[in-house]
Amino acid sequence: MFQLVIKCACGTLLFYARKLLRNFAAACWKTNAAKPPLFYARKLLCNFTAKCGRATPPARKKAVKPLSYIDGSDEMFSFLKQYVLKPRTVGAVAPSSKYLAAKMMAGIDFASAQCIVEFGPGTGVFTDEILRRRQTGALVLLLERDAAFCEMLRKKYIGHDHLHIINDSAEHIGKYLHVYGGTYGIKTADYIVSGLPFASLPQDVSESILTAAVEYLKPSGKFITFQYTLLRKAFIGKYFSSIEITREVRNLPPAYVFLCSHVG
Ligand SMILES: C[S@@+](CC[C@H](N)C(=O)[O-])C[C@H]1O[C@@H](n2cnc3c(N)ncnc32)[C@H](O)[C@@H]1O
Repeated sequence: MFQLVIKCACGTLLFYARKLLRNFAAACWKTNAAKPPLFYARKLLCNFTAKCGRATPPARKKAVKPLSYIDGSDEMFSFLKQYVLKPRTVGAVAPSSKYLAAKMMAGIDFASAQCIVEFGPGTGVFTDEILRRRQTGALVLLLERDAAFCEMLRKKYIGHDHLHIINDSAEHIGKYLHVYGGTYGIKTADYIVSGLPFASLPQDVSESILTAAVEYLKPSGKFITFQYTLLRKAFIGKYFSSIEITREVRNLPPAYVFLCSHVG
């Protein structure tokens, strides 16, 4: 009986490991312009998955799903892939959890918010919540530096009104508020939700982004960010008079949510 249970458990584990490797191999296969290490990783993974039951690696033409995704596992692979390509700017190996997303939203008064800006939406874990909770007509701007993530977000949020997905760095928030907010008389944001990895971004980039965030946030507005450690608290604290910190352990890794404002 015990042996049977062990056999079943091993079989299930092997099944998922194979699926995981196959998805990753397929995601890498899609990136024809991948760098040499990815090329070899791809080859290795394809050989391995072929040995696990697939006769031939996936044909380049069919080349699976685009960088956009259909389910959560594809989202994970796309994220991991972007991390491998740009570890310092992506700053995490996986998207944030829905629990962290809920905690990030806790400080937002959606009933009054007319304009919410998100920095570094990645695959859109926080964006999903913002779009679900915002009042009708509220303006949402996403500033994402990574072109592949932007492409994915555009496909994911097709048909959403008053949503603008911008492939640019967060420090240029002013330019886009002027372009998209101008017609509604909006010059500043009620909230800025940030997924930016301040711990790994270059110091001067972080400084420009925080300076712009303060400039384009309403005086009563809030800047909400998460960090995996408290190391950047003093640095972020230079830009705001108040930071309330909460912790979310149901995230990999556990994270701190910083609710930054000029009040209190
Ligand atoms: C840690 S990931 C967070 C993604 C997502 N918010 C989440 O929590 O799952 C950081 C994101 O910030 C983006 N990013 C990094 N530097 C940026 C910048 N200067 N401007 C805009 N986005 C940036 C990365 O491409 C990546 O999507």
